[in-house]
Amino acid sequence: MTPALVETARALVGAGKGLLAMDESTPTCDRRFAALGIPQTVDARRAYRELIVTTPGLSDCISGAILYDETIRQRDRHGALLIDRLRDAGIIPGIKVDLGAKPLALHPGETVTEGLDGLRARLAEYAGMGARFAKWRAVIGLEDGRPSDACIRANAQALARYAALCQEAGLVPIVEPEVLMTGGHALARCEEVTGAVLWVVFDELRTQSVVLEAVILKPNMVLPGLACAQQDGVEAVAAATLRCLRRNVPAAVAGVAFLSGGQAGEDASARLNAMNAGGDAGERSPWPLVFSFARAIQQPALGIWAGQEANVVAAQQALLHRARCNHAALHGAYRQAMEDQPARDGAARRLAS
Ligand code: 13P
Repeated sequence: MTPALVETARALVGAGKGLLAMDESTPTCDRRFAALGIPQTVDARRAYRELIVTTPGLSDCISGAILYDETIRQRDRHGALLIDRLRDAGIIPGIKVDLGAKPLALHPGETVTEGLDGLRARLAEYAGMGARFAKWRAVIGLEDGRPSDACIRANAQALARYAALCQEAGLVPIVEPEVLMTGGHALARCEEVTGAVLWVVFDELRTQSVVLEAVILKPNMVLPGLACAQQDGVEAVAAATLRCLRRNVPAAVAGVAFLSGGQAGEDASARLNAMNAGGDAGERSPWPLVFSFARAIQQPALGIWAGQEANVVAAQQALLHRARCNHAALHGAYRQAMEDQPARDGAARRLAS
């Protein structure tokens, strides 16, 4: 099983493209729709996901897309499965398989991600439907002296058991331990906790015999908390993130695909660009450093669409713009000027490819 899995992992992270997370759970998707006055219905979610997967040119920047259970079963207006539209466009389909973060017993304010019960059968079904990779997100908060060792260990063990089940089923696991941006902590505290979490995650992955060459790590960038008075610059964030990864992530891992975690889209692009541009952030990393963003790619497009059919083309252009900016960032070719004049994207993209 392993050579095919390694090949899939390389196709996802080694092609100079990134991933699009479009796997918001129904409650999360509905919350984002509600904030924009979009009806929270099955058909509105279907229409929005159809808008995304039918965006012309998306596969120039995007190697894989992560779907949600509802979406992988849905069809476009012509009756074609959305997963087939992705595959026809040359985008590898994946699936979110965790069932969400639930309160961790005896640890108020902390969560452990659930979904291991019955996972073997669900993975077999998704593989049969054409999914080639999966995602599981663990959530680690930093406020009020957290996280506890119990929270880190419980989440890391669940990630490792999920990853082993994925590889058994022929799916590449995306392992996502997210250290949240919420709070007033400094950059150094985020670096310390992110490093500790990654260390335990790889300890558990090794214990479960997970093949690292067929694993994609989806970490947070190392950032100061949103409420921290000192907001460090792009180069400091890139340097801290790379240092933290080099110290705690084995070189054998297929690639690193960052989540955006609530960063503004332009910030996420600039920081990713700095990591790939080889500036103060330092030497080249042992892994491809790509993106697996949801909000930092989708948010402007969702606002423009606003649930209106008449806005689909403009929303697709906005989606493609953010995808192109992040694609350029993989090649150290992202420039602020791309934001001022999106028409320049084409030129930047040619430069980057
Ligand atoms: P964000 O990029 O919005 O953080 O989402 C990434 C993701 O997939 C969270 O699980």
